[in-house]
Order: sequence, then C-alpha cells, then structure tokens
Amino acid sequence: MSESSADLREVVRQRYAAAAAQVTDGGTACCGPQPIETDENFGSTLYAADDREALPAEAVAASLGCGNPTAVADLNEGERVLDLGSGGGIDVLLSARRVGPTGKAYGLDMTEEMLALALANTAKAGATNVEFLKGNIEAIPLPANTIDVVISNCVINLSTDKAAVFAETFRVLKPGGRIGVSDVVSDDDLTPDQRAERGSYVGCIAGALSFTEYREGLEAAGFTGVEITSTHEVAEGMHSAIVRAVKPTNVRRALMHVAAEMAVEKC
Ligand SMILES: C[S@@+](CC[C@H](N)C(=O)[O-])C[C@H]1O[C@@H](n2cnc3c(N)ncnc32)[C@H](O)[C@@H]1O
Repeated sequence: MSESSADLREVVRQRYAAAAAQVTDGGTACCGPQPIETDENFGSTLYAADDREALPAEAVAASLGCGNPTAVADLNEGERVLDLGSGGGIDVLLSARRVGPTGKAYGLDMTEEMLALALANTAKAGATNVEFLKGNIEAIPLPANTIDVVISNCVINLSTDKAAVFAETFRVLKPGGRIGVSDVVSDDDLTPDQRAERGSYVGCIAGALSFTEYREGLEAAGFTGVEITSTHEVAEGMHSAIVRAVKPTNVRRALMHVAAEMAVEKC
C-alpha cells in the first residue's frame, strides 16, 4: 500500500474511533456535537421502527450507514453472513436475528473502538450466533468459499483499494453466494474532483465510485448479475444506492469470460 493510502486509511480509522467514543459516552455517532454525517440521509432513520426497537439503543445510536442492507439481502435461516465495516454492529445483529441459531453473522472492522462497541452491543442483545473480526476489508480474515451473503453499509467508498475489496469478497463467498450492499455512488459524469467538492472522504462522499466504475469493478472480480439502484440522493449527483451481485456457480467459466473480455479491451 502506498504511503498516501496508508495515511488516508489512518485518517478514516481515527474518525470512526472518535465516532465510537461518542456513542460510548452516551451520544450518537451520526448527529452528535462533532458529526460525521449530519443529515437524514445517513444513520438509523433508514431502518424500520421494528428493526430499531429490536436492538440495544447503543447499536442504533452507532448507525452510520447510508441504507439498510439487511432489508435488501433477503437473508434466510441457516445462512452465513459477513458485514464489511460492521461499525457498532447494527447490521450484524439484525442479520443474526434473520439467519437464526443455525446461521452465523460475522462483522469485520479495522477500528478497535468500533469492535469494542459492537461486542458490548452483542452482549446487550444476547446474540450468540455472532462473531466480530479485526481486520481490513481489503484482506478478509476468512477462508475461501465459506460465506453465503456479504453485506456492507457505507464502507466500500472508504476503501483505498476497492479492487482488492471486490476480489476478497468474491474469494470468501461460496459459489452462488451474493452481495447486498448499501453504498454511496456517484453519477458517471462527475470527475473525482467534483465528487470531492460535494463532501469529504471520511464523510463517505469523495471516495465514492461512479455507477459504471462500481459495475466494472465487480465484473472484473468475476461477479455477475450486477444491479446498482439509487435509493436517494445524498448530495448533488451522489446517491445512496443498493448494490446486488452474484458469484456464479461456475467460477472457472466466469473468470475465463472476464479474462477474455480484458484481452479484447487491450487490442
Ligand atoms: C461509515 S461507518 C459504517 C459502519 C456500519 N456499517 C454502519 O452502518 O453503521 C464505516 C465503518 O467502516 C470501518 N472501515 C472503514 N474502512 C475500513 C477498512 N478498509 N477495513 C475495515 N474496516 C473499515 C470503520 O472503522 C467504520 O466502523
């Protein structure tokens, strides 16, 4: 990783460590005195009331997402779910309820303070089919072909190596596994500078991919059936979007197809 990428990741880590401390001190991560994001486009208001009521108040207060991936991922009893950038644990705890005692929900986050908050929230919720892992979403600490569904809520835009996130997501999913992600996505005609004019990197705006970049990134990793749907605008030309995609059951054939497409592009 280049020095500037490492610096940027450290800025992100510090910002979310501070957000976790805000919740631990009795505030909310989203809209406290030093807000990360300051409007109704982010945080717990994006969840249905019965979802919020089923969780510890601190898990709800820690919500920093831009959507509700558990509502779109269509989780089933017995499935294994992984949440990339799990924060205070809201989507892990909701997933754990949906997959039930025969399933399992993993949360992965690089920020120690967020992991501590998520563990405290898990204890308050009494959830037992949950495990939190410390690590980076660019190098997921799980074996290949072990996860049914990867979810994530407003995190992939924060990564300094999105190709690695897509490749790692593909690796850990079982053949036929799927992703159901909420993320900030930009209109195709906005340059990186124009995206940065609309909001900061740590505030989940400047690092967003465009719709085409997102689709191409997922397809280059081998995903098929990519669907990216805007749910609401979070800044001019910047959207909260639902991203769905599938790891094909015949991975070898899918990767040969990607390699053939890349060879054609080079000509
Ligand atoms: C915007 S918050 C979203 C948290 C949670 N998904 C939610 O909906 O409340 C971003 C989270 O992703 C984590 N994060 C950001 N970049 C990461 C990376 N490269 N690897 C692992 N975790 C990361 C941060 O520590 C933080 O907890």
